[in-house]
Amino acid sequence: MIPDLDVEALQAQQLVDLRTTLDRVYEHVPHYRRAFDAVGVAPADLRSLADLARFPFTTKEDLRQNYPFGMFAVPRAEVSRVHASSGTTGKPTVVGYTSDDLDVWAEVMARSIYAAGGRPGDLVHVAYGYGLFTGGLGAHYGAERLGCTVVPVSGGMTPRQVQLIVDFEPRVIMVTPSYFLAILDEMEAQGVDPRSTSLEIGIFGAEPWTDEMRREVERRGGIKAVDIYGLSEVMGPGVSQEAVDTQDGLHVWEDHFYPEVIDPVTGEVLPDGEEGELVFTSLTKQAMPVVRYRTRDLTRLLPGTAYPAFRRMQKVTGRTDDMMIVRGVNVFPTMVEEQILKVEGLTPHYLCVLTRPGTLDELTVQVEAHEQVAEADREALGRRLAGHVKDNVGTTVRVEVLAPHALERSLGKARRISDRR
Ligand code: DLL
Repeated sequence: MIPDLDVEALQAQQLVDLRTTLDRVYEHVPHYRRAFDAVGVAPADLRSLADLARFPFTTKEDLRQNYPFGMFAVPRAEVSRVHASSGTTGKPTVVGYTSDDLDVWAEVMARSIYAAGGRPGDLVHVAYGYGLFTGGLGAHYGAERLGCTVVPVSGGMTPRQVQLIVDFEPRVIMVTPSYFLAILDEMEAQGVDPRSTSLEIGIFGAEPWTDEMRREVERRGGIKAVDIYGLSEVMGPGVSQEAVDTQDGLHVWEDHFYPEVIDPVTGEVLPDGEEGELVFTSLTKQAMPVVRYRTRDLTRLLPGTAYPAFRRMQKVTGRTDDMMIVRGVNVFPTMVEEQILKVEGLTPHYLCVLTRPGTLDELTVQVEAHEQVAEADREALGRRLAGHVKDNVGTTVRVEVLAPHALERSLGKARRISDRR
């Protein structure tokens, strides 16, 4: 199921495929022709993989400016499907797939589910949202391709999610980690012991989540939790996947997606092992290939382990957009999550609220207490969390410990930051 490639053969193929991508976009997408011409590079300038660094980056803004179909490299009639990602402001980003693209996507998703421990014949409960979001349909076709029985539940109607898990007995669940927490809470509310269900594997992604959160959902759910990564602009879920046996970061399916890590400020390519912004170039995509697309996700590239030909990317700690600067210290929501999970009595339902009462930004962490915690004890938990954040992250935050269920639950990607400045 997972190709056992020789690294040299893989790199030779990557060079051929990169050239094809550059030729394709230069010829068919006016944006790329203009961008390449502006810096004086042409597809023929790519003679080695390192030459890719000479080509310009592509950003979300470029996609917005070519809304809706301006980045397509094939006539619209050859596009079998579109997806879109909403973003926080303005117009959505539209992406397109030919039927060959959909075939590749199903294949990389099938690989991902396999690497996560899924096997043909398994029942797979898909609680990623169906629709323009790539999560639901991406997971769906991948699980079908692997030969699984798919239950296309989508997100929402949490009590029914629990009922279907109890009645259908899935072995695998595919869902955002934050929504899985909501499902676990609902199980407990219904008197179902989550550890007693048929679930053995959770394939969690679409948002950053920490190793502390992994331990929490594995303990509460009695499952193995593995990380899946992807983004609409590059394909959707299934760009990279963590192997269940090693749980040590995500293998990038490098025969389809070429990764680089750059310094987000200078744009310079960083050597493997150094942390920076992840950038992808399509190797096989037809409808909407991207060249050096800046994901804004922060990670580092590491050598392959479970699948040696493919490099791994470390679990994504955050997005450059989500970086908060609190009294001079860079803080990502995942850093707060890590500390929350160290405080017994607090739940990982939290929100980072940014305000600017005077000239400085302030961060207030709103976090829910467990059901069992008496109201009188909440303040002390808040002080403990503030202490952990001060000691380990290095900044002062206010903490408000809230009653259980006080924060809004997301049915998909959790919103971790509320900017009230
Ligand atoms: O979230 C695709 C996806 C669906 C991935 C289901 C995994 C599972 P977008 O809506 O375009 O696509 O959002 C992509 O989500 O750039 C990251 O910032 C974030 N993201 C996705 N997976 C992870 C992950 C889907 N495993 C954006 N860890 C990406 C951290 C993730 N962040």
